[in-house]
Amino acid sequence: MTTSSVKELLSSDQFLQEVCVKGWVRTFRSNRFIALNDGSTIKNIQCVVDFENTDEALLKRITTGAAVAIKGTLVESQGKGQSVEVQVNNLEILGDSNPDEYPIQPRKHGFEFLRKNAHLRVRTNTFSAVMRVRSALSFAVHQYFQQNGFYYVNTPIITGSDAEGAGEMFKVTNFEPNKAPLNEEGEVDYGQDFFGKQTNLTVSGQLEAETYAMGLGKVYTFGPTFRAENSNTTRHLAEFWMIEPEVAFYDLDANMDLSEDFIKYVLQYVLDNCKDDLEFLENRLLQEEKTKPQAERSEMSLIEKLKFVVDNNFKRVSYTEAIDILRNSKPNKKKKFQFPINEWGADLQSEHERYLVEKHFKCPVILFDYPAKIKAFYMRLNDDGKTVRAMDVLFPGIGEMVGGAQREERLDVLKEKMAALDIPEEELWWYLDTRKFGTAVHSGFGLGFERLVLFTTGMSNIRDVIPFPRTPQNAEF
Ligand code: 4AD
Ligand code: MG
Repeated sequence: MTTSSVKELLSSDQFLQEVCVKGWVRTFRSNRFIALNDGSTIKNIQCVVDFENTDEALLKRITTGAAVAIKGTLVESQGKGQSVEVQVNNLEILGDSNPDEYPIQPRKHGFEFLRKNAHLRVRTNTFSAVMRVRSALSFAVHQYFQQNGFYYVNTPIITGSDAEGAGEMFKVTNFEPNKAPLNEEGEVDYGQDFFGKQTNLTVSGQLEAETYAMGLGKVYTFGPTFRAENSNTTRHLAEFWMIEPEVAFYDLDANMDLSEDFIKYVLQYVLDNCKDDLEFLENRLLQEEKTKPQAERSEMSLIEKLKFVVDNNFKRVSYTEAIDILRNSKPNKKKKFQFPINEWGADLQSEHERYLVEKHFKCPVILFDYPAKIKAFYMRLNDDGKTVRAMDVLFPGIGEMVGGAQREERLDVLKEKMAALDIPEEELWWYLDTRKFGTAVHSGFGLGFERLVLFTTGMSNIRDVIPFPRTPQNAEF
């Protein structure tokens, strides 16, 4: 007999058929009712044991967390809350689970506790829902780009360059600590290291993706990126996944259009394909919000929020306009911002971004034309000589979801900017080559995948939307 998934059985109306289903026991009530889950859906299937004709010893082994194989008859359910159930004819314990030791009990656990049990937390409703939505989002990402003429490129994870020029990189070396050979100046001689040069884990695949856009036209990456920044926030991971489209002949306006269209597409995909999980997550969020003071509660439910983003235009605002709004804002005047906004040129902190999207515009916002001083070297300088064609997409509850730009395609201007920031030309000779041979206007952006999952699932900590989070002082599992 073939094994059916719980999802298949729950949507079946082939009553009285013999079925086989395998999964993990969520609960076992009254020595009779097993709530069985196999991960295929948020819903459990009820399996009814004929306890009078079942061995006592076997009944004792039907515990929360145990893996079981059940053969039985699919029938219309008598009970409330489900349409079908399985009348168990044969039950085999595939793997026992000692109820005194199994950490995931059938009651509410705090997320902090579940993070410590990240290897088991996917067996809870919340985490299985989040991870199914995450999977659907990944699929939608590929589908969007593949349907729109983009090619998927895999940029290196080990690299010799610092794409963001921020220096927050994890080193990759084969030297033993304290035994690294030194050169005549007494510095570590990376010439003798595995790659013959200093290398690190990539912070972004952009620079390599740009070279591919200049041959394939439209490309995207979707891979892991690493940042050694010591940010212990609910929005930062040391290892996260980034989606980076890069397109030849796109200017900043086309880039903004692409980011907006892309985000709307993947959210719509989840609305269409993850209904049960979204309903569960919406309810979870509702319960969580009830514990907060009224003023901090969201006006919209999770699904309403997703629909709102899909149905409304993102507001496009220049950095200069944003600074005016912030400077004249109530929290700035009342000195409520931790970093007060006094003058043009200030870097925007998360509190400012969130004020703009959550209080002022109440919708996703694309900020563009930032001061050159606070942005990376590769962004195209505007004619005013002081702003660059940068764009950040800001989301309610999240802050920055996307960072991107039109790239500096003029060789001389790019070289000048690199010189000003002490970025050696020898290190990026290959990047400069794209500006020497057939240079063209081009643009791209990076979207932090976990921030997207965070928004879509209504979770509040980024550690809860990636299977095994890497954060300062934490690389368990
Ligand atoms: O703004 P960032 O640093 O931009 C880049 O790396 C560009 N090279 C992208 C490009 O143009 N191709 O990062 C892009 C996005 C951010 O907007 C944010 O969503 C996410 O990556 N991000 C993080 N997500 C989780 N944890 C972190 N530590 C993150 N740092 C950035
Ligand atoms: Mg950024």
